Amino acid sequence: MDASRRQQYLDALGIVSWVRRDRAAAGSSTDASVMPEAAELQPANNFLKDEPVKPAAAGGWEALEAAVAHCTACALHRSRTHTVFGVGDHHARLMIIGEAPGAEEDRQGEPFVGRAGQLLNAMLRAIGLDRSQVFIANILKCRPPGNRNPQADEVKACIHFLQQQVALVRPRAILAVGGVAAHNLLQTDDAVGRLRSRMHTYGEENTPLLVTYHPAYLLRRPEEKAKAWQDLQKLHGLLQAD
Ligand code: URA
Repeated sequence: MDASRRQQYLDALGIVSWVRRDRAAAGSSTDASVMPEAAELQPANNFLKDEPVKPAAAGGWEALEAAVAHCTACALHRSRTHTVFGVGDHHARLMIIGEAPGAEEDRQGEPFVGRAGQLLNAMLRAIGLDRSQVFIANILKCRPPGNRNPQADEVKACIHFLQQQVALVRPRAILAVGGVAAHNLLQTDDAVGRLRSRMHTYGEENTPLLVTYHPAYLLRRPEEKAKAWQDLQKLHGLLQAD
């Protein structure tokens, strides 16, 4: 992506960017210091590997989507308008994992379509990606009433769907947005502010996983966008490294 386009995206995100003079002179757009080193990779002690993969994945995307649409495994099915399966490229190099559908997502049956979704789209564009080029999913497929946090029993009932989606996509990298996604994928209570500063891996394939702030949080705390931009640069470096 050329520098002026990049700057437009940063402006759209409301991010003031600083470019090191030596790099600016060299015309480099990605700060090598944010590129992950192999030694930085932290194996995740995530619990998903203890959960058996449920059989729908054997039937591929269609069977999995049908299983989600008909799921009654937790009480959230009673209050949902639509299940929110996930959207995007089934062969994406990047998977974005959020928390759970909100009101607008529940209405439309698609993840990240509200205000937070618009910011997520801008964040993706900032690293040269269109929403259609990634796969976007959530920890939960149904909306918790009043947008409360997912409960442990709901996550337990639902997480195998996400596990199967990751197994089908086999992404090159995962971006967990927000604490709920990060905590459930990495099985940790560490704050996002700590988790975002290092590389993690997810699942048996040791897929590189990065954590950043949830776009809804960034809408409330725009001063944190600069940190999210650092995370996106790191992610960009990771995707380019392949
Ligand atoms: N927040 C999420 O975490 N996921 C969505 O799909 C929408 C908002």
